[in-house]
Amino acid sequence: MTDAPFSNAQDRQAGATGKVRVWDPLVRVFHWGLVGAFATAWLAADEVQPLHELAGYTVAGLVGFRLVWGLVGSRHARFARFVKGPRATLAYLGDMVHGRERRYLGHNPAGAAMIVALLITLSGTAFTGWLMAEPERVAMLPAMPAIVAPAWADDDDDRFENGGRSEVEGPLKDVHEALANLMLLLAALHVGGVVLASFRHHENLARAMVTGDKRAPGPGDIA
Ligand code: HEM
Ligand code: HEM
Repeated sequence: MTDAPFSNAQDRQAGATGKVRVWDPLVRVFHWGLVGAFATAWLAADEVQPLHELAGYTVAGLVGFRLVWGLVGSRHARFARFVKGPRATLAYLGDMVHGRERRYLGHNPAGAAMIVALLITLSGTAFTGWLMAEPERVAMLPAMPAIVAPAWADDDDDRFENGGRSEVEGPLKDVHEALANLMLLLAALHVGGVVLASFRHHENLARAMVTGDKRAPGPGDIA
């Protein structure tokens, strides 16, 4: 795919400051809101359940927004622009191993694959949390009861005894926790990738996610 040239406005911006706008305000608010909501959901888990659920729903809402913004959002926010197939992603990783990967103004193919993994895992974590929060929700799903409900029915644990919600146990909670733990691993890899790419291309990518601006593309960069 050929990359479209910059608009005149972008050329002018790059000429005046050496920087170009890459991340629009909504992407930035989404990102740091997501980091905050995810951290809150983690820290509140098993401690303050209402806060845990509120933070989890906030994660779900942000991910829902990002899915829409990935279709209709600004240039570098669009999935069609940055999500690549396995071949391009592996080629990029191979280039990284040899220290010759090109600089992307938007997400590079490896970062993009991680973003897809993060969004899917976050959706799964929030969805299993939502399912678990009320037993009827599992029963509403036609396929799930065969997997989850019998195990739940066998469970000695009665979540509504003592007049309130007690500890949830069972396979759904195991899946929810496993996804939450996977998220920690992915987030650590994601931050590692951000730090690595920042060093390799001599730019502070975390700061760019705050200001929205990055160094204008040079020769060989992919804009
Ligand atoms: C403090 C730790 C973090 C830092 C410094 C950080 C930094 C960044 C940066 C610099 C990007 C843009 C990458 C690029 O240039 O291609 C990015 C993208 C992204 N990060 Fe993080 N991140 C952090 C934590 C997280 C966590 C915990 C999550 C998930 C819960 C997350 C989810 C994402 C997503 C979904 C994107 C894609 C943004 C978009 O296009 O909308 N990040 N992050
Ligand atoms: C997407 C972000 C979320 C993350 C990272 C997350 C993480 C976790 C973790 C790590 C636990 C295990 C706590 C323990 O050690 O027992 C847990 C439990 C739980 N989560 Fe979530 N969760 C998220 C979203 C949700 C949502 C949206 C809901 C429901 C609305 C929810 C409902 C629950 C429930 C009911 C438990 C079991 C609490 C208990 O043991 O009684 N979670 N979550």
